[in-house]
Amino acid sequence: MNYKIKLLEDKIKEALNTLGYMLDEVTINPSNRPELGDYQFNGVMPLAKKNNQNPVEVAHNLVAILKTYPELKDVSVAGPGFINLTFSDSFLIDFLNDSLKDLTINYKDETIKKTIFLDYGGPNVAKVLHVGHLRSANIGEALKRLCNAIGCKTISDVHLGDWGRPMGMVILEIKTRYPDLAYFKEDYHGEPVDFNLTNDDLLELYPIATSKAKADEKIMAEARDINYDLQHKHPGYYALWQKIVEISVNEVQRLYQDLNISFDLWEGESDSFAYMDEMLEFLYSKNIVTESEGAKVINIKEETDNKEMPPLILIKSNGAVSYEATDLAAIWERNHKFKLDEIWYMTDKRQELHFTQVFRAAHQSAIVSPNLKFVFNGFGTMNGPDGKPFKTRDGGVMPLSDLLDMVTGECEKRLMPNITTNREKIARIIAVGAIKYADLLPFRTTDYNFDIAKFTDLNGKTGTYLLYSTIRMKSLLTKAQQENISFDYLKDVSNPSVRKIIVAMLDLKRIIKRSFENCSLNEICEYLYKITNLYNNFYSEYKILTEENNLLKTSYLSLTKTIYDNNCYLLNILGINIPEKM
Ligand code: ARG
Repeated sequence: MNYKIKLLEDKIKEALNTLGYMLDEVTINPSNRPELGDYQFNGVMPLAKKNNQNPVEVAHNLVAILKTYPELKDVSVAGPGFINLTFSDSFLIDFLNDSLKDLTINYKDETIKKTIFLDYGGPNVAKVLHVGHLRSANIGEALKRLCNAIGCKTISDVHLGDWGRPMGMVILEIKTRYPDLAYFKEDYHGEPVDFNLTNDDLLELYPIATSKAKADEKIMAEARDINYDLQHKHPGYYALWQKIVEISVNEVQRLYQDLNISFDLWEGESDSFAYMDEMLEFLYSKNIVTESEGAKVINIKEETDNKEMPPLILIKSNGAVSYEATDLAAIWERNHKFKLDEIWYMTDKRQELHFTQVFRAAHQSAIVSPNLKFVFNGFGTMNGPDGKPFKTRDGGVMPLSDLLDMVTGECEKRLMPNITTNREKIARIIAVGAIKYADLLPFRTTDYNFDIAKFTDLNGKTGTYLLYSTIRMKSLLTKAQQENISFDYLKDVSNPSVRKIIVAMLDLKRIIKRSFENCSLNEICEYLYKITNLYNNFYSEYKILTEENNLLKTSYLSLTKTIYDNNCYLLNILGINIPEKM
């Protein structure tokens, strides 16, 4: 929690000590009734109950000591023993000036120093990047930035779905259409082939290839054979597959760049596959793999389970390795390459059972040390405006790029008419901000409906509102600079609106920590809205640049600068860029 709050909590603990109560920890919280105080301490009631004492009496004894603290201007007892705390001016002034000098005091947490590997919900090669892929990349990107802000190291992997039977199907479809391609000749050995294949071709091919295979057992068998050969490095199939991966990756990179999302590693299931044999051999040596109906399985039930826990299928009855085995191989690979404290997975919450099985198998077989922690960060679905899975007008899945274009168009309509250059580029930045904020606002596991009007509303709880307000703060600061008015310290908190903003800022560190613990950005989104709203109310209520009292003017501007910097910092954690104007 906030260093200043923490210091005060420690002092309250000391006061309780002198009264004869030994406590490990004291927590104070923002007040439920701000008219009575800034924060409150609710710990007296349970303490008195434990000691068979009158809580109001204990509270009054404590208050007598707290009243002597310079951090507090006012302390009072309410109801059955609540203690209301009102901070002194100097307490708030010092905190704001510290934040103004170095914002990271609200973020860095020396007690959490970890290296965290992030596995995103991997787009599939040759397949359209659809709205379902947005959440994984968006949540993953923001969590990565949050980890870094706190002080953790991260390694992020896009984890492409680039391996498996669909690859055989796509290659088979290409082979059917262009049987004379050099890739399919007996004597092909990896030389370059003049074959023009685009991402659009792949997007057209993929659904046809998969539905043909599903409809016809013979085609499916052929695709399976091709996939088998591909996985055993058949020169032609392998070269064609590399080309397919390259085309897809280029397209995915282009889209992710637009979305301000990046990865340290562009690995895929195929990279982990190189470790499969090694990993399987290790598992067999542990005697935990058994046969069941022709499949090789690992029983991962635990005594404490009160739910059905099916065994993990490692090798399917047809001899193919399973999705679970692929993830175990990826864990094997990562554990050998990096020194990790945790591995986080950001995928649709419907994959929870899969990951529970994988994590258990990894720990029970000791593929990784028991100290390596696995975290499954499942998320809910973004549905269409009607609350049903998102579809295009003709009933297909909505490509992510179409969604982006749609929102960009809407944002461009709302741009100021006097912006004449780069309108599309600016609208794109705002659109990405609007989509991302709307996506991070609900708790991670909550489903939500896409609503373009709501998400881009300039007056709502939206990314657009936050961007607009933050740009306005900046322009105020620029004007002050032009008029040579300084804003490097705050000296006065007599204005109740100013006080309220600083008190709200005190809670930030706790929110950051909780967001990290919950692996969800919702509280940060709420906080950004709250603080921006408080600031905007102050902005409309008081004149700043024309304030005649210089001390007040400097203080107001210093506050503006802190909120502006902090908004930029928080928007950056959310992966949202701020345009120059809008
Ligand atoms: N590519 C998979 C899909 O689209 C998701 C991969 C999720 N990550 C993982 N490590 N299994 O369904």
